[in-house]
Amino acid sequence: MTLVRGKGAEAWDDQGREYLDFVSGWATNSLGHCHPVVVKALEEQARTLIHTSSQFYTVPQLELAQLLVEHSCLDRVFFCNSGAEANEGAVKLARRHGKLRLDGAYEVITALNSFHGRTLAMTAATGQSKFQEPYAPLPVGFINVEYNNVEAIKRATSEKTCAVLLEPIQAEGGVNMPEDDYLRKVQSWCREKGILLILDEVQTGAGRTGTLFAYEQYGVEPDIMALAKGIGSGVPIGAFLAKEEFSLFSPGEHGSTYGGNPLVCAAAHAALKYMIDHNIPAQAKRIGNYFMTQLESLKQQFDFITDVRGRGLLIALEFNQEIGDKLQLACLNRGLLVNRLKPNAVRFMPPLIITEKEVDRAVAILRDALKEKA
Ligand SMILES: Cc1ncc(COP(=O)(O)O)c(C=O)c1O
Repeated sequence: MTLVRGKGAEAWDDQGREYLDFVSGWATNSLGHCHPVVVKALEEQARTLIHTSSQFYTVPQLELAQLLVEHSCLDRVFFCNSGAEANEGAVKLARRHGKLRLDGAYEVITALNSFHGRTLAMTAATGQSKFQEPYAPLPVGFINVEYNNVEAIKRATSEKTCAVLLEPIQAEGGVNMPEDDYLRKVQSWCREKGILLILDEVQTGAGRTGTLFAYEQYGVEPDIMALAKGIGSGVPIGAFLAKEEFSLFSPGEHGSTYGGNPLVCAAAHAALKYMIDHNIPAQAKRIGNYFMTQLESLKQQFDFITDVRGRGLLIALEFNQEIGDKLQLACLNRGLLVNRLKPNAVRFMPPLIITEKEVDRAVAILRDALKEKA
């Protein structure tokens, strides 16, 4: 299927068929397809300055960095082009901390079922054998331990550890929710040991879970945070942010040709400012709650649905049968794009601007597709 056009929560293929898009470019088009503020920013910036290299500051880059630090607990920003790169940069920064302050510590503890990107190092960080095995041997320095188990992190910590890297909610790995006090306990352990807490908010950030950043809901503050996807509402951007005391790069120690590119930064600044000015995270929370209620009622209707879970507009529906592929296709044929998350689960990550009416339309299609499976 080839998509040729999109507007808001809808997209059209080259045969003129219309789809309700509950994938959003994998949780990226936070304001939907071709939002006017993003389009306007791109048009204006394309006429003004498209690229300079990161040797120079540009106004869109500074404005975006300013917005990010004003609305987060972090103080410094490094721009890159994707989520994987944001995590790579975050780990490199943590290794500077290890080298300068922890006697050369370099290991990073991550969780099983996590997803941090597809570079070789992030494949090692990603605790899923299906991503790791085809590329072994992988770079050293990552230990994958059970998620939601702070004792496992404690056991894996040694004098070689410089950081713990976690997604606040594991997205690709199954929309796995943290226990309420998990992140708080991990943070205390990190503080006790002088190691850094890196949160990968590539998917959960930019309002998706109902607050601008998911960490706000769990009573923690990361020392370093990785962002991408939703902050650009469709333009390729990544960023990692650090607290001042962990902003340890000297000039030249890290870099990126396109990182901070004014064209993408102008679009991301426009998108993020719109999200903040219009309190889009709160809207995501409200519509997400409504969507979850509708999915719960589907669960009452279909006994093979075993779980509805998520937060804001990051939601999974799980089954006691491996119908993920079939259901994804059945939805697609009826004009709804969803993501087959696991053999027995699908995921919804619609744009944060969807309406209750659009949720109703999606749920009606889903009900119909589920009936085919029942
Ligand atoms: C939590 C998380 N981290 C990192 C990544 C990698 O991002 P990218 O594909 O932009 O490299 C993803 C992508 O799905 C993600 O969900």
